[in-house]
This record gives sequence, structure tokens and C-alpha cells, in this order.
Amino acid sequence: MTRKIILDADTGIDDALALAYLAASPEAELLAVTVTYGNTPLSNALRNTIELMKRLQLTVPVYSGAEAPMVRTKRYSGAFHGEDGLGESLGVGEAPPHTPIRASDFIVEQAHRHGKDLTVVTTGPMTNLAEALLTDPSLADKLGGAVCMGGAVAAPGNVTKFAEANVFMDPEAANTVFTSGLPVMLIGLDVTRKTLLTEADTRRWRDSGSGLGRFFADFTAFYLDAYKRHYPYLKGCALHDPLAVGAALHPEWVRTVPFFLHAETDDDSRGRTIENLFPPEGARPNVEVALQVEAEAFMKDFFAKVEGLF
Ligand code: BDR
Ligand code: CA
Repeated sequence: MTRKIILDADTGIDDALALAYLAASPEAELLAVTVTYGNTPLSNALRNTIELMKRLQLTVPVYSGAEAPMVRTKRYSGAFHGEDGLGESLGVGEAPPHTPIRASDFIVEQAHRHGKDLTVVTTGPMTNLAEALLTDPSLADKLGGAVCMGGAVAAPGNVTKFAEANVFMDPEAANTVFTSGLPVMLIGLDVTRKTLLTEADTRRWRDSGSGLGRFFADFTAFYLDAYKRHYPYLKGCALHDPLAVGAALHPEWVRTVPFFLHAETDDDSRGRTIENLFPPEGARPNVEVALQVEAEAFMKDFFAKVEGLF
């Protein structure tokens, strides 16, 4: 059975890998990509998405969304994804023409059209999905659910000691999503740092002789280099965003635990995803947090499918 998917991405390097994985997955019917700021400004993220879709021969629409977090100011760092968001492979660019419908409006409209058959996979800050839920709170009961790459519940953070980047950037949006009533599966650093891509993988892509393989190998090499500098003990770079796609299509690859989850908004612990000890009276846990992953099964599927494109 195929699953209808909207990918909501801040198109940087691992988002690009997630998009390629979706393009190669017959279990997924990708309806559209909705784009947000995050790894790079919105204009670059949009340009990256449209360029990747062209190269992947994907013809689904692209919708532009939030330019900034709900209440905070965004600052960008090119350390992991490059100033252009794609390992300096494309350069800083203007957003090409795209449909004028706002990302959150599109999510609302598609939730009404497809209901439980639709899953939103977020691989950036959750601002677009939060905006959709605030525009139409009935979405929480309509949609099949959301699979969100974000958070670090039992593992250290990657922006601060406690916080993961996507939740750190817009913790208010994360809380809007977590408390909306929407079924949410959180794919955080607890599991994504157990799924790795290594230099041997990019070497194979480069040696494939395909232009697409070389393009993917080149920008992924930038990400690998950043990982080598920041996390030498990991022996590779984390497949954060592809794993969110994998878990949406194959939930049997992750084991989740229900939490009353909350993203901290205080300055000293901003973005930390932690149990809320004071849930509303009678409330049920709001987020299924992935704490274990069948890394081998996922990685085998990811590499086989993506390499099938090269
Ligand atoms: C997440 O932050 C971004 O840098 C990545 O694309 C991923 O979505 C990992 O913390
Ligand atoms: Ca991302």
C-alpha cells in the first residue's frame, strides 16, 4: 500500500537525501514539498528543492512557507550544510518561481482532501506544520499524523548540550505541534545518530559514473567533512532526515515510547525535549518518541533505493 506524503523540509544536505529516498520509494506517493527556513534562508531552501526535483525528475509542486520562527529571530550557520544549504554546490541563490499558495494553506487543504491517508514528514523546524494547525485546529483529527525529525530525549543535543537543531530553532512551533492532538512520531538524535553514511558510500556514488551520483556525492562530502571535524567519534554523518522518511514508510523499523513531551523555551535550556511532568488533567501522552531503530534494515533500504537512482 502506498502512503501519501507531504515532505516539509529546510532543504539542506540530509533533507536532499530524504527527498531522493522518497523519490525512489514506491511505498510513498509524494504529493508536494513544502519548504521552510532552517539550515539556510528560505530562498536558498526553495532554490535547492526546485533544483533537486529537476535533477531527480520529480514533478510534484513546491510550496513556500515560513521565513522565520514563530516568535524568535533566526541566525544561520553554514557549518554543516554550507552557506547555500547544499555544501556550496549551487551558491547562494534567489528563489525561482514557485506556486504562490502558502505551504501551511496547502497542508490544510490536503488534510481535508486526504484525511488519514496523509502523513506530513517534517525535516526542518516545525513552523509550517504549526502554522497549519493554528490556521485549522481540526487538522489534528483529520490528518493521519506527522513524523518529525527533531529532538533529543535520551541523547545529547547537537546545537547545545540538550537541544537538537530543528526543535531549538522554533521550540514554540514544536510545542504547538506536540500539544495539538495530532499523532506525532518523533525521530530524534536518539535514533538518527545510529544511522550513518560514510566516505565509502559517497565514493561508490561518485564512481557510479552518473552525473546525479556525482552531484549527490559532492554535496554530501561537505556534510561528511563537517561531521569529521565536529563528531570524529561517529565515523560518518547522520542520516537524520532520511530516517524520518524511513520511519513514516516503515514504522516497524523504530520502537517508540509514549511521552508527555514538551520543548523547553527558557534561554538556558531552549529546545530541550523533555517529559512534561504537569500534563493537563486526563491528558494522554502526546508524542511517540523513537528510542530504538533497526539501523541495518533502514540503511540497507536507503542505500539500495538511492543508488538505484544513480
Ligand atoms: C536536523 O537539523 C538539520 O541540520 C538537519 O537537516 C536535520 O533536519 C538535525 O538536527
Ligand atoms: Ca533538515
